[in-house]
Amino acid sequence: MNKRLNEKAVAILKKNDRGGFTIPTARLYPFQWNWDSSFTALGLTTYDPDRAWRELEMLVGGQCSDGMIPSIIFRSDDQDYFPGPKIWQNDNGPVSCTGISQPPVLASVMLSLTDPADTGSCERAMALFDPVMRWHRWFHLFRRTENAPAICTVHPWETGRDNCPDWNTALAGMEVDSELPSYVRKDIEHADASQRPSQLEYDKYLTIVKFGREHGWNQDTLLKDGPLQVADPGLHFILLRANRDLLKLAHILEREDACADIEHWIRAGEAAVNYLWNDEMRAFCARDVRTGIFSNGFSSASALVFYAGAGTQEQRQHTLEHIRRIGDKTRFGQPSWDPDAAGFESQRYWCGPLWCQMNYMIARGLAENGEAGLAEKMRLDLRRVIELSGFYECFDPMSGEGCIGGDFSWTAALWLAWAGRDAPAFQTG
Ligand code: DGY
Repeated sequence: MNKRLNEKAVAILKKNDRGGFTIPTARLYPFQWNWDSSFTALGLTTYDPDRAWRELEMLVGGQCSDGMIPSIIFRSDDQDYFPGPKIWQNDNGPVSCTGISQPPVLASVMLSLTDPADTGSCERAMALFDPVMRWHRWFHLFRRTENAPAICTVHPWETGRDNCPDWNTALAGMEVDSELPSYVRKDIEHADASQRPSQLEYDKYLTIVKFGREHGWNQDTLLKDGPLQVADPGLHFILLRANRDLLKLAHILEREDACADIEHWIRAGEAAVNYLWNDEMRAFCARDVRTGIFSNGFSSASALVFYAGAGTQEQRQHTLEHIRRIGDKTRFGQPSWDPDAAGFESQRYWCGPLWCQMNYMIARGLAENGEAGLAEKMRLDLRRVIELSGFYECFDPMSGEGCIGGDFSWTAALWLAWAGRDAPAFQTG
């Protein structure tokens, strides 16, 4: 155990606390982000379980009337961030928010925080159970189309993997709105522009926001008629895992009334996995729903099939071969994009850097599926990179250099909950 880094991690979470919720990092991301908050709760619970539940309660407090839990909850307007609440203009919730969601890791985190022998934690979980059911239902209703059974997204930001080359084919087929108002990016004032998405990508991101805003964030219209429809292995596998964890929670909380729906979602999720299988790549890949075209690289989301408990023996074997091939190329963990594929950039946001939360989920899935050694290597890689560079948003997987935001909440949290621990935290199988 590294006492100095443990103290630093706790200090970062306290510094980023804005009163019941934690921002990812000051200035660059000054609001509550959805999956950031969930991962942050895993760190908070190591020293303050009550505060960890509060984090999740505040997140659920932003739920919209249609069931969506948004990617960002804007409790204030902050000039440090663009695009803020005045651009999104989504007032379908109790607090102003974005009009898209983010990877639903919340149920899985709730399960980690729930001790069946502890009435207090069960009561906290019970209070969030129905809102989480509504959110999962929302994904099945508004993020699946008639043409594709897998969970798809309408905006790269919703996947959490913003500028991953996974979206390049679909984005290439999309026009920038000719009436897009001019705007000033704030992200490149706080971070090195060479590590952030390109201007053209931002124009396309904002074109989708304009469409959603002009349609009152009607999610049915956004899905069917919006500029983008891409099936995402990240959202798909994370939701499948979250449904399995929600089912376990239902049993712990004696919510048998919810089980039939959850089991139905799990079966549908399992059946849809083949839609994401790119036979040429021998990997699970993102897929443009409108053209059927696959992305052509192995991303960190491709590796989540173990975490989801899905795929055939053969698909898993191929996935493992990719993980090993890529692991041999990097010095630190699994990068966000395949170093052998076009578009790899070791320091540009989702085009290559190592992300701690992706490595946590990949390793968890590997440990549960007979690959404890590989999982432990990933944990120790993350530990080494944090010891080398500090608590960055993400890291160059080749050099270990920290990239983009510093003093980052989920990195601090996953240090406390996983990388910095004396022993692996996962069940093995
Ligand atoms: C950003 O602003 O870069 C965020 O990732 C959007 O959610």
